[in-house]
Amino acid sequence: MMNYEKAAIREFQSYVPEPQMAEIVLNANENPYDLPEEVIEKITEEIAKIPFNRYPDPGSTELIKAFAGLNKVDPDRVVAGNGLDEILSYIISAFIGPGDVAVTHEPTFSMYEIWTKIAGGDFYTVPNTGGKIDVDALIKEANDKNAKIVFVCSPNNPTGEQLGKEDLKRIVDETKSLIVLDEAYVDFSDTSYLPLASDRMIVLRTLSKAYRFPAGRCGFAVSGKDITDALRKVKGPYNLNALTQTAARVILENSGQILDKVPEIVSERDSLYRFFKDLGLKVFPSKANFLYVLPEDDKELQKAFLESGILIKYYPGDHAFRFTVGTPEQNKKVKQVVKDFYAKDTKTT
Ligand SMILES: Cc1ncc(COP(=O)(O)O)c(C=O)c1O
Repeated sequence: MMNYEKAAIREFQSYVPEPQMAEIVLNANENPYDLPEEVIEKITEEIAKIPFNRYPDPGSTELIKAFAGLNKVDPDRVVAGNGLDEILSYIISAFIGPGDVAVTHEPTFSMYEIWTKIAGGDFYTVPNTGGKIDVDALIKEANDKNAKIVFVCSPNNPTGEQLGKEDLKRIVDETKSLIVLDEAYVDFSDTSYLPLASDRMIVLRTLSKAYRFPAGRCGFAVSGKDITDALRKVKGPYNLNALTQTAARVILENSGQILDKVPEIVSERDSLYRFFKDLGLKVFPSKANFLYVLPEDDKELQKAFLESGILIKYYPGDHAFRFTVGTPEQNKKVKQVVKDFYAKDTKTT
């Protein structure tokens, strides 16, 4: 039987998300809170007004207007898509072909590499130094490899580190690459670098995390006029369905009410950080809604979590865990599992 697959994708396995069968699911950096009832009601009312026999607005005009107004950017420099996963595919489709190069830091979000390789591009990474993004190495690699794109994830998934403005400006000034700044988790930090968006830097934002709407699939790319034009050329004509456009617009119009859980998540994150630190575990300070922890007995701890019905993201190769911050009750259970695990450990040694 002929193999019709293009060579670039033969090495890939199709992506199979971890089953979310556990009692407490803390493995996907989701918000532990569903949308407020009132907002769900408004969404339902607005959705009932959609003419379902018509194609959706190809430019997602009202949605983009709501996003641009809230974030004080020019709507002509915004593209909306089905989550950042898909927006990343537009970026690759517009700028990366066979022989083109993208670089990033590691560890980071896997889709940068996957989309680049599907497009036949070459992908390189630079290792972190003590868990931090090595900006000098990233700049050097971008220049050595003549990279078309540098992906910067900030706050970074999975380490939680957020780069400062000076570092970002250096990456722009000291390379010739197009910088893609993935700010999926920025609402859990104090600062966004959206104002740096330009024809040298695409800034990415999503409604999947702080805005509690991963089910709807909605993300945004903000850049300069030329980059925006290029992204609009490669996106499907009716890329975002009318239900998502409508629901996402209502969510942005009610952002205050939806983001009101952020302070609690941030304070729970900081409390979990102190908890791990006080136990003597290696944990990185985080500006996102998760923490990256490197315990010594990772395999046994993973077992203890599974037995307790708590699903967390485990990176066996790195002997690391990424804990999504849950509700206060869920976080209490996480702490209890870790406490019990180390208490047992002490008794047996
Ligand atoms: C860093 C980062 N970027 C992008 C995404 C994808 O987000 P979306 O749900 O908008 O596709 C994720 C999802 O977890 C992520 O961690």
